[in-house]
Amino acid sequence: MCGIVAACLISEPVLGCLIEGLESLEYRGYDSAGVALSAPGTPRRRERGRVEDLKERIAEDPLPEARAGIAHTRWATHGAPSRPNAHPHRQGPITLVHNGILENHDELREVLAEHGAVFESETDTEVWAALLAFEERKTGSGVKVEAFLEALAAAMGRARGSYALAILHENHPGRVFFARNESPLVLGMGEGGRYLASDVAALLKRTHEFLYLEEGDLGWITAEDHLVVDRDLKARDLRPERVSWDPEAVEKGGYAHFMLKEIEEQAGVLARTLQSAAGAEGDFLPDFRLSDEKLRNIRRVVMIACGTALHAARVGKYLCEEGAGIPAEADYASEFRYRDPMIGPEDLVLAISQSGETADTLGALKVAISKGAVPAAICNVPGSSLCRAVEASILTKCGPEIGVASTKAFTGQLLALHLLTLRLAQARNALPEKEIERRLEILRGGHPAMQTLLSAGAREHVAEVAKKYARKPIFFFLGRGPDYPIALEGALKLKEISYVHAEGYPSGEMKHGPLALVSEDMVVVALAGETGNYAKVLGNLQEVKSRGGHLVVVTTTSRREAIELADDAILVPRTDPLIAPMLHVIPLQYMAYYVALERGCDIDKPRNLAKSVTVE
Ligand code: G6P
Repeated sequence: MCGIVAACLISEPVLGCLIEGLESLEYRGYDSAGVALSAPGTPRRRERGRVEDLKERIAEDPLPEARAGIAHTRWATHGAPSRPNAHPHRQGPITLVHNGILENHDELREVLAEHGAVFESETDTEVWAALLAFEERKTGSGVKVEAFLEALAAAMGRARGSYALAILHENHPGRVFFARNESPLVLGMGEGGRYLASDVAALLKRTHEFLYLEEGDLGWITAEDHLVVDRDLKARDLRPERVSWDPEAVEKGGYAHFMLKEIEEQAGVLARTLQSAAGAEGDFLPDFRLSDEKLRNIRRVVMIACGTALHAARVGKYLCEEGAGIPAEADYASEFRYRDPMIGPEDLVLAISQSGETADTLGALKVAISKGAVPAAICNVPGSSLCRAVEASILTKCGPEIGVASTKAFTGQLLALHLLTLRLAQARNALPEKEIERRLEILRGGHPAMQTLLSAGAREHVAEVAKKYARKPIFFFLGRGPDYPIALEGALKLKEISYVHAEGYPSGEMKHGPLALVSEDMVVVALAGETGNYAKVLGNLQEVKSRGGHLVVVTTTSRREAIELADDAILVPRTDPLIAPMLHVIPLQYMAYYVALERGCDIDKPRNLAKSVTVE
């Protein structure tokens, strides 16, 4: 959700590095893009649209050479996507890029206008620039770096909301200032220079050494040095962390889309997540640092998440209740945080998030922590705000996920939820050790089944089915039990990337309303695999079929009746019901992908959406 990148390089022109960073961050927003360089007059170029459009603009109107600069890719919040609203924004000597929302921008705009500020855009970010220019005039910072930091700290004191800022100042060539509150920002240290970015993915080609900046941090980078201070301007002692992600992970590697690449990486994700969960002495989740005693005292698991991660949480509710015998709930983070939830020290509040930076999830977690809950997380990004806010976390080993529609993170989250369930069951003696071992074996056995589903033959069959129905206007995805959240996820994938109206529904609920919608125009995709309740699912399929809907069934060879009823059957390997939902999602991901492809949609950058939603 808006990506920022900044760099100060020792010996190389900075523009290439900034563009490369923007290209890696584009999943965070692609409404407009812009860049400004530390050179006389702080030249900038901005363009509505993609980074590609910005590159064309720079080719038409080249920038001078410079060693330091800032850049931005935007997901519009305040002000429509347009060139004047594109970052970087400028007021006086200050030019800056911003990720976040300045909540009191209206009030500040009025006050600053009274003091002579003139605004050219509708954005809250330009108010940030004016606020900083105003505070700077008050401190009269001139060319003194420390005085400018004082002005920045003073502006932070007046700004409400979330921000990660990278700032150029005409009096400080070769230096980029920064500040962060609630929006993510990392500081990279490489041999070629110093960097700032919303996400490590933007900098993997340059460095693997990062400082994770924290709430209220501010400071500066130059090509060979940096300073991080708190709002009282006291030096902060942050330790550099090494990120082992491979820079190739942020490349498409020959695939047409990141989404397809990431779907196909899922078997590897399972293997890596399982491997990293295995302890040296036959135990598992050794890094999930909550004692058995603490886990025994928990009376309820409350999972909070958004989007795809919430669907994983909904599967997690079934797993926890069945496997660990503990009541579990799953809630939208955006609802949880504002409903004054009844939460206390006996609740394990589990935040699930691919990025670890989703504003609603972090906000909900804060509420839970303030009420004394035990905070834990399932997350894909080590060092993320989420991982740093909790007592214990399970890291999914997906590598960077770039496609806006989440795929591999989902299966990683499901596996992590299985492992957490078994860890809870073990600590609470809810399952005998032998049964825990049996279940771990089943999870290990998921890998070959998943590979079968990811084979070219399986993929091509789903592609054919998708092509057949790609122009239909309504899709319903049906499932029962833990397959119900999988149906929700199938529908979410389809609407996200193909813009087709799709809903996920519990199979048994169709007769309470949606059956009225069944017609020639509707495609029903039903999950009828090995997850139990087959007889009931079959009844529900008959209700749809007898009313003239197109029926696609995801099932196994043993489910003859379902196959016969279906217009099209997509076969999945027969496995233990425990892992069937994790496999059922694969054909649904492919289906969304191929429907979107057939409809000519922009699969990795669906309209109006972005990844890592750092605003509410
Ligand atoms: C956005 C993305 C979704 C993702 C959701 C939660 O909406 O487009 O793919 O599921 O955010 O993101 P998180 O990083 O918290 O898992």
